[in-house]
Amino acid sequence: MLMAGRGRLVPCVCLGLFGILCWVWVSFASFPDDQLPLEALDAVERGAFQPQSALSEMEFASISSYRGPGNSDRRSNKELPILLWWSGGLFPHFPGDTERIDCASSSCLATSNRKVQLYKRTVSIIFYGTDFRAYEAPLPRLRHQTWALFHEESPMNNYVLSHGPGIRLFNYTATFRRESDYPLTLQWLPSLDYLLAPVAVSLEEKNRLRREGLAAVLYMQSHCDVPSDRDRYVQELMKYIQVDSYGKCLNNKPLPQHLEDTATATGEERTFMNFVARYKFQLALENGLCPDYMTEKLWRPLHQGCIPVYRGSSVVADWMPNNHSAVIIDHFPSPKALAEFLKRLDENDDEYTKYLEFKNPKGITNARLLEALETREWGVNDMSKPNYLNGFECYVCDHENARLAAERAHRKAPKENPPPQPKMANNSHMGCPLPSPGYGHVQDLHADDGWLQTWPQDYWQSLDQAEGLESLIRHNKSNPLLLWKHIQNMAVSRARGKP
Ligand SMILES: *[C@@H]1O[C@H](CO)[C@@H](O)[C@H](O)[C@H]1NC(C)=O
Ligand SMILES: *[C@@H]1O[C@H](CO)[C@@H](O)[C@H](O)[C@H]1NC(C)=O
Ligand SMILES: *[C@@H]1O[C@H](CO)[C@@H](O)[C@H](O)[C@H]1NC(C)=O
Ligand SMILES: *[C@@H]1O[C@H](CO)[C@@H](O)[C@H](O)[C@H]1NC(C)=O
Repeated sequence: MLMAGRGRLVPCVCLGLFGILCWVWVSFASFPDDQLPLEALDAVERGAFQPQSALSEMEFASISSYRGPGNSDRRSNKELPILLWWSGGLFPHFPGDTERIDCASSSCLATSNRKVQLYKRTVSIIFYGTDFRAYEAPLPRLRHQTWALFHEESPMNNYVLSHGPGIRLFNYTATFRRESDYPLTLQWLPSLDYLLAPVAVSLEEKNRLRREGLAAVLYMQSHCDVPSDRDRYVQELMKYIQVDSYGKCLNNKPLPQHLEDTATATGEERTFMNFVARYKFQLALENGLCPDYMTEKLWRPLHQGCIPVYRGSSVVADWMPNNHSAVIIDHFPSPKALAEFLKRLDENDDEYTKYLEFKNPKGITNARLLEALETREWGVNDMSKPNYLNGFECYVCDHENARLAAERAHRKAPKENPPPQPKMANNSHMGCPLPSPGYGHVQDLHADDGWLQTWPQDYWQSLDQAEGLESLIRHNKSNPLLLWKHIQNMAVSRARGKP
């Protein structure tokens, strides 16, 4: 599912949807009851540096962590602020559930042990967006604790985060949006060399395959019921240009036997890569639409020297190697117009080749792309660099230590030192739009249309949940299962015309 060290670190996440369901189920099953762990609340009141039951006996495995040049933190483990990974499946340390982390300028304890939830020392809670459920949020939300969101996956995994009231619950974010605090925008692009790799199948060979009957356009998708509603678009496109479709969605060709096992693989398996590289164009439609949400569907054809025909991020052009490397679906008024354009490129080698000029030395002219690849601190499939989970954890650690220091300075000398400014996320950190039909207008869809019955509803129900959770927090509730009641109450007030 993911290219980065994530697969290695987080077996559970690699299971995709099943991993998610499994995680939800586990946390639900282990949810104690309405009662607060009193022992833990007690710890809040007793103050910062008490010995704490959950952590006291733990051994802190000392893996050689990266200590930045600005880190002269000499505090012992029991004095460090704690970061709690609420989504334990993502906890980026092995073995054990607690680890000292030494970051660029300061140190923290990172743990996945939920017993520390209400401790005063626990300064921040880190969530994985895909797992985040309003009905199992850590409540009551303590004033001194910040919330941090890690969400690199599709917007479809959790629309709660795409609404203002949902995203504003978080103080720090790492998402695919460039506006987030710790952006993961190019997470699926391993390196510049990946883009510069020589064209995998020459144009002469592609033209020969065309004469033998291979379509110009490839579609390979097995996840069909998705918010971007891509099949509806591709189905219309197929009326005007031949498309070879091997996946479960809109299938019109059997997948060769030797590829069957890898049909849904997003990996870079050789035979699969060679198979898809023969096409002049690859349809690359993301499962959810959101600014800066781009996946391997886009980067892989660029790597292979096939032209991606793309829909996903509305601002994808900002990250392309140059202004002539992808065909952007939304630049065309209709599938028919797109088909005509693709046919023209198919018949004109010079025009086709222009799309591959970025493979030449100095062909990558996009300064934003070059700079982002140059300056990002995390690596993709690169063991010499931290992965982005550890990177974000350290981002939170350093920011929390800075905030604590500013608060201490303020308490000591309020006149000289203003209190630190509150910091919270906003819609620019995620903010994915209401799903719309892949082709045509929503009012023209049949009432029993499967997509219509699923995704717009999911989107608006997510808004209810975000508002419900915000209400629980505002009322200092400790039982997240009161969410449903709050949602109901809000609906009743709305119906009565109260705000
Ligand atoms: C791409 O950029 C070049 C150089 O800046 C410009 O001359 C050309 O018109 C642009 N092409 C498109 C399709 O925008
Ligand atoms: C964190 O976000 C919450 C909710 O938006 C906000 O009330 C709080 O002031 C923020 N905390 C800090 C330290 O900025
Ligand atoms: C939203 O957050 C971004 C970056 O975190 C900030 O630059 C921007 O001003 C914020 N927008 C609003 C409307 O508060
Ligand atoms: C919120 O609730 C908790 C536990 O129910 C309580 O200890 C705390 O004092 C409350 N905070 C506020 C601000 O009312």
